[in-house]
Amino acid sequence: MKVETAADGSPRIAIFTVAIDGPAAAGKGTISRALAERFGLSHLDTGLLYRATGRRVLRGEPPEQAARSLSSDDLTAGDLRTPQVAQEASRVAAMPTVREALVAFQRSFAQRAGGAVLDGRDIGTVICPEADLKLFVTASDAVRAARRHRELVAAGHDLTLEQVLADLRDRDARDAARDAAPMVAARDALLLDTTELSIDAAVDKAVNAIKQKLEQGRK
Ligand code: CDP
Repeated sequence: MKVETAADGSPRIAIFTVAIDGPAAAGKGTISRALAERFGLSHLDTGLLYRATGRRVLRGEPPEQAARSLSSDDLTAGDLRTPQVAQEASRVAAMPTVREALVAFQRSFAQRAGGAVLDGRDIGTVICPEADLKLFVTASDAVRAARRHRELVAAGHDLTLEQVLADLRDRDARDAARDAAPMVAARDALLLDTTELSIDAAVDKAVNAIKQKLEQGRK
C-alpha cells in the first residue's frame, strides 16, 4: 500500500494491490470485477495472457515468441474462452520461458495509480508477493463445472457438463503439479470457498476483507 497526501492534507491511498488466485472457474473473475468497480481499482485477468499465448501457439507460433509479442488486440479476441484454448493456455503456462515473458507486464500493471486487482494462479506467490490482500478462491468441482458450463452455453458453445468438468480437472492437475509458479495458496492468503455462497455473498466477504485492510492502513 502506498499512501499519498491529498490537496487538503488528508491521507489518500495511491496504490493498493489485491491478488486473487484459485483453480479454474472458481469465481475469481466475477469477484475481481466487482472489487475493481467498488474500489476504483484497475483489473487484470492474467488468465487472458496465457489464453492469448495458447491461441497463437495453436496457430503455429513458438510459445515464447507468442508470449513476447502479445498486443491488446490479442486480449480482446472473441475466441479466448473455449476449452481448446484453455487447455493450450495451461500447457504453455507450464513453460518457464513463457511465464518469464509475461512477468514484467503484470508487475507494472499492479503499480497502476489508484491500485489494481489481478487474478490468476500465481499472483499472491510470484507476481505480487507483497500484495495488500490475497484471496484464494475455491469451490467444489461440481459447482465450478456447472457455473462454467452455463457461461459457455450462454456464449453459444455446444459442450456437455462432463466435457467442461474434464477440462477443469485436467487443467487444475497440470497447474498445481508444474514446477514453474504452480497454483498454490500463498501462506498469507484468505481462503474463500464459494461452493455454497451466492456471488453477492462471496463479493461481500471480499469487500469486507479489503475494508479491514484499508482501515489498518489508515491507522
Ligand atoms: O477462467 P479460468 O479460471 O478457467 O482460467 P484462466 O484464469 O483464464 O486461466 C487459463 C489457464 O492459464 C490456467 O488453467 C493456467 O494454466 C494459466 N494461468 C496461469 O498459469 N497463471 C495465471 N496467473 C493465470 C492463468
